[in-house]
Amino acid sequence: MPEKPRKFDFIILGSGVAGLTFALSVAEKGRVAILTKKNRADSSTNWAQGGIASVTSREDSIELHVQDTLEAGAGLCNESAVRTILAEGPARIAELIALGTQFTEREIPNAPGSRELDLTKEGGHSKRRILHAKDATGAEIERALLAAVGANPNITVLENHFAIDLILSGKIDSSHPNRVVGVYVLNQPANRVDVFVAPVVVLATGGSGKVYLYTTNPDIATGDGVAMAYRAGVGIGNMEFVQFHPTCLYHPQAKTYLISEAVRGEGGWLLRRDGERFMGRYDRRLELAPRDIVARAIDSEMKRTGDPCVFLDISHRGAEFVRHHFPNLYARCLEFGIDMTREPIPVVPAAHYQCGGIITDLDGATELPGLFAIGEVACTGLHGANRLASNSLLEALVCAHRAANRVLLHPPAPVDIEIPTWKTGEATDADELVVVSHNWDEIRRLMWDYVGIVRTNKRLKRAEKRLGNLQEEIREFYWNFKVTADLLELRNLCTVAQLIVESALIRPESRGLHFNLDYPEPDPAWAQRNTELRKILR
Ligand code: FAD
Ligand code: SIN
Repeated sequence: MPEKPRKFDFIILGSGVAGLTFALSVAEKGRVAILTKKNRADSSTNWAQGGIASVTSREDSIELHVQDTLEAGAGLCNESAVRTILAEGPARIAELIALGTQFTEREIPNAPGSRELDLTKEGGHSKRRILHAKDATGAEIERALLAAVGANPNITVLENHFAIDLILSGKIDSSHPNRVVGVYVLNQPANRVDVFVAPVVVLATGGSGKVYLYTTNPDIATGDGVAMAYRAGVGIGNMEFVQFHPTCLYHPQAKTYLISEAVRGEGGWLLRRDGERFMGRYDRRLELAPRDIVARAIDSEMKRTGDPCVFLDISHRGAEFVRHHFPNLYARCLEFGIDMTREPIPVVPAAHYQCGGIITDLDGATELPGLFAIGEVACTGLHGANRLASNSLLEALVCAHRAANRVLLHPPAPVDIEIPTWKTGEATDADELVVVSHNWDEIRRLMWDYVGIVRTNKRLKRAEKRLGNLQEEIREFYWNFKVTADLLELRNLCTVAQLIVESALIRPESRGLHFNLDYPEPDPAWAQRNTELRKILR
């Protein structure tokens, strides 16, 4: 017997910085459900290291932060989005601190006993403006937000609830104006699909790093929000711009582990195996050039020398400095027998951040009434063709707050439609496990090999063809058999991979993170053109 639909005023999918911030901002005005597919702290937010970029020092200005963001974005940022988000940053940071987030402080020079925020630096920033909690900033932000959410009686957090698809009124009854009215959710503890109903549904499902074989992202990052929105006919923008982080630990026993850009911000050098500090041949900003440039330089050095990695060395800053600034990185590297106070760390680039996503305005509103998208899942225009380091936590905070203000000022009408229960196959299939794990590996490997840091039309076309076949196979399983979280993630992963490939094929130039050997230069005609993909619903 199916459960009755569960009704809320606000449904939020995802419990990272974006979802939690939105929840706290609307909870006074209604009943909020946060649905999250694993445990509540399973998010990219919880893994963020370097920090959050915002202007808090008198030596800095919003204008400088804007210029740095535009420069990193390689001509594709929406300047008004950049100005708005960065200008609202300091107020949101102040709220985060008031909520209990403890950023690292330092003693003010020449003023014994008085303290100020300690600001670090990362690639592409002309000033020290990154607030951080040592080298585990995201965990501190997530801790503070989860504590506030836990203390709020209007917010219900449902763990192990996997959102499958958005429910659209126009699909239930074509005489209704189309809008989102709820979500089908795999309730994993109960092993059934439930219906959740609300006039406002917020996608805060994060990014899609798992689409690549090597990634800094946690397992939850399978692009579910982008895939759900695409299936609902919502526009998806700029998916070709996948950011590869230049420095992830290279060690046979380590599941990819990020070595924060703050290590380079605090003076780290990139070296080849023979000891050459090579960044001087690529950019005047050396190791602190924007990420696309550093990642491509490393890729090119590795290809030229045949070495499997390059090295990041901060040992010249002294053991005490290194242990004080990077206690978690130091401990983690030591687990693998690498003492970063005395020797260089072997590093390679890995997929890190999705700059494109669901097209929204600055309040997170999508083209589908009632549906909002905030955080990494959204494409607001802030990042353009390459995100400036540490701008993503900031974007999530600011846009979550703006989205909350929007729905409080203009609440969508209540849902007034009978929602059908979930229907797909009920059978299980012994083949499913092997098909899921094979296809999962195949997608991630082919994306790494054919759609990575350096692309060509031929490789993109090959990936397109293969992904089409895989999607057919997955579709068959999806409609005939009982859904599982693994199958749902595979379906989403494949859709996101296809969106990345199709977007990359549309853009006949190289810009920012999208580098295609067949068109190695930027084309001024494409400087302000976003790619946009939309499924035509029948
Ligand atoms: P997330 O924090 O990823 O949260 C997504 C949530 O959605 C999770 O709770 C997930 O379980 C849930 N979810 C996903 N799919 C479903 C579904 N189908 N149903 C239900 N729930 C679902 N950015 C910075 O600005 N500074 C940094 O220093 C920094 N360091 C980083 C270091 C690492 C290792 C990584 C991986 C990222 C880093 N980033 C950094 C990027 C930044 O952490 C993310 O962009 C940001 O945290 C995204 O927040 P979010 O709320 O949008 O998504
Ligand atoms: C890092 O610490 O290098 C990650 C920063 C980011 O992705 O913004």
